[in-house]
Amino acid sequence: MLDQLEQVEQEALAALEAAEDSEALKAWQKRYLGKKGTLTLMLRSVGDLPREERPVFGRAANELKTRLEEAHQIRAQALHRADLEQELKRGALDVTLPGRPIGPGHLHITTQTLRQIYAIFAEMGFQIYEAPDVETDEMNFGLLNMPPHHPARDMWDTFWVSDELLLRTHTSPGQIRVMRERYPEPIRVILPGKCYRYEQITARSEHQFYQVEGLAVGHGITMTDLIGTLTEFTRRFYGPERRVRIRGSYFPFTEPSIEVDMDCILCGGEGCRVCKYSGWLEIAGAGMVHPVVLENGGYDPDEWSGFAFGPGVERPAMLKYSIDDIRMFYGNDLRFLRQF
Ligand code: DAH
Repeated sequence: MLDQLEQVEQEALAALEAAEDSEALKAWQKRYLGKKGTLTLMLRSVGDLPREERPVFGRAANELKTRLEEAHQIRAQALHRADLEQELKRGALDVTLPGRPIGPGHLHITTQTLRQIYAIFAEMGFQIYEAPDVETDEMNFGLLNMPPHHPARDMWDTFWVSDELLLRTHTSPGQIRVMRERYPEPIRVILPGKCYRYEQITARSEHQFYQVEGLAVGHGITMTDLIGTLTEFTRRFYGPERRVRIRGSYFPFTEPSIEVDMDCILCGGEGCRVCKYSGWLEIAGAGMVHPVVLENGGYDPDEWSGFAFGPGVERPAMLKYSIDDIRMFYGNDLRFLRQF
């Protein structure tokens, strides 16, 4: 019987050595140490032996069981380590591989357009002045000659932040800020920035868009200066052949107020879908700064005069690059943005 144990031990250890993975290891354990395993059965048969042989065999079998269990544990650990090493090798990072290149980005079409506009006005001596996006009711309306309940407020559907605060509906409130800061210096600035309107989004209008306000305040500034400035801007931005037309208009903060049109860049004035068959395109509202507004900025209207204008930014870009849907600007579709 003791011989038999020795044979089982040799066989079991050889089989353990041959087990290469956890599956094989499990099978091994079942075969030798499981409920119906070889050794378990041998231990159970101790009772069949002659009485005097039982203690010796019993002890030897139990010792063998302990040895096999230990051997199993050692083998299991070795296999686990080998598995880990394998895993590490497979997941190893090859630091010599070249990285994935990130293509260089470029400026958004709105930023490019803004910069073109800045450059043109810079050559005409206009500085850039930035004013906040969140404004008071007073700056956005009141000081621009629209006291509470003034019907002209209806021209600007407004996002209110609180009873007194709002998202500016136009860049015009910056006029008051720059005048109050610069008085008594003469002023020649543009005020670029985002405006917000509580409006339906369509192919032609967004609820967020840019404007570039212009303001000149000085002695003896006239409507001729305004028309000259905007005509020059139009020809530099859209091309030297452009013609400009002036119409009378109304804004509470200018007097007189005008609307500046240019001949349609698509049809040259013949009439087409873009200009709605009129031959003309609106490019900006403008006018001579209203005496009340000059006064609110701190400038005495008897001594000072000025002009102001307020073109958009996306619309000119749409005309220039034949874009027919303003929603493309902020839709974050790279296929669109990469074209400019
Ligand atoms: N603020 C006007 C708007 O958003 C545009 C405008 C018109 C600005 C006439 C001006 C101006 O400075 O003189 O509709």
